[in-house]
Amino acid sequence: WKTLDDMDLAGKTVLTRVDINVPMENGVVTDATRIEKIVPTVKDIQARGGKVVLLAHFDRPKGKVVPEMSLGHVQDALAQALGCKVVFAADCVGDVAKAAIDAASPGDVVLLENTRFHAGEEKNDADLAKAMAALGDVFVNDAFSAAHRAHASTAGIAHLLPAAAGRLMEAELRALESALGKPVRPVVAVVGGAKVSTKLDLLGNLVSKVDHLVIGGGMANTFLVAKGTEVGKSLAERDMAETARAIMAKAGAAGCTIHLPLDVVVAREFKAGAANETVAVDACPADAMILDAGPATVAALETVFADAKTLIWNGPLGAFEIEPFDTATNAAARSVAALTKAGKLVSVAGGGDTVAALNKAGAAGDFSFISTAGGAFLEWMEGKELPGVAALM
Ligand code: 3PG
Repeated sequence: WKTLDDMDLAGKTVLTRVDINVPMENGVVTDATRIEKIVPTVKDIQARGGKVVLLAHFDRPKGKVVPEMSLGHVQDALAQALGCKVVFAADCVGDVAKAAIDAASPGDVVLLENTRFHAGEEKNDADLAKAMAALGDVFVNDAFSAAHRAHASTAGIAHLLPAAAGRLMEAELRALESALGKPVRPVVAVVGGAKVSTKLDLLGNLVSKVDHLVIGGGMANTFLVAKGTEVGKSLAERDMAETARAIMAKAGAAGCTIHLPLDVVVAREFKAGAANETVAVDACPADAMILDAGPATVAALETVFADAKTLIWNGPLGAFEIEPFDTATNAAARSVAALTKAGKLVSVAGGGDTVAALNKAGAAGDFSFISTAGGAFLEWMEGKELPGVAALM
């Protein structure tokens, strides 16, 4: 794939696909991370003499115009982050978009309305892609976190114009390549979260690529059940036991060591501050549930981390959203952060709850790379081709 360095952008209108699908409450952006992350790309295009026209989706309006899902709501936050005028056009194609682009001064950024207001977006409709492409001279995709969608504004348009990756897309792809593509070994993957059933492909792919697979959270309970360990009232997918055994067998054949909890923190209620105790992994009382990994588990993981050169993290190790069941996640995350800071480990994290958990641990800042992607990060960890990236090849 090409980068901005390979493109002549002087005097060009640069259709730039970004992901500014940010969390919002009552019309106010509550986390502007994704907006801040596109600033280098926008500034770089401007510095190269290009006029920036932003294409983006917001939420899931399913092909209808839903006023609450208008990108007009992020116009101010965008202008603030970019430090320049942001002109908003109430459609992403046609005369309205064209007029806004033509009227904008070279240093302005034009923000086009939610691409998903058109039903053709999610269908990767050729006419919609053509109508978008007609608005610009070149296409830059900076939306790695939307690259798992084969949509008109991510994939379709990339085939119609000279296309390149933006700076954020570039950074995401390089980080992922260093973590799973051509990593320095040993490689550790930490995978947590509630359900094995949602991460089957991911686990199946990882065991053939990494040296150590740490399984945490509710998923670990399913693996414990698969090994014949009783887990009381813990969240576990008992019908996935056979699948878990198949994953363990695949790992064994591939030389990947799976790490499950050695000790666990159990409680009888799922609530913050619930009375709890730490027991050996095979001693969960029948009326209790496992809500976190224990200190012996964390100590064992720290030994694995200390020997590793590369680490990839997705998902918390326990019920991190309620204290004190965030303890193992926090401790393990801080250990990874410290090793990374000391230059001993390359650490990459991403996907849904993960970034929230690492932020809560105060560890995110020291990871080598934190992906802005949720679903796209997971699909990439599953070894799937991402249509938005493939279209840049
Ligand atoms: C995300 O938030 O992960 C991306 O913006 C993709 O959104 P989607 O899951 O609605 O396609």
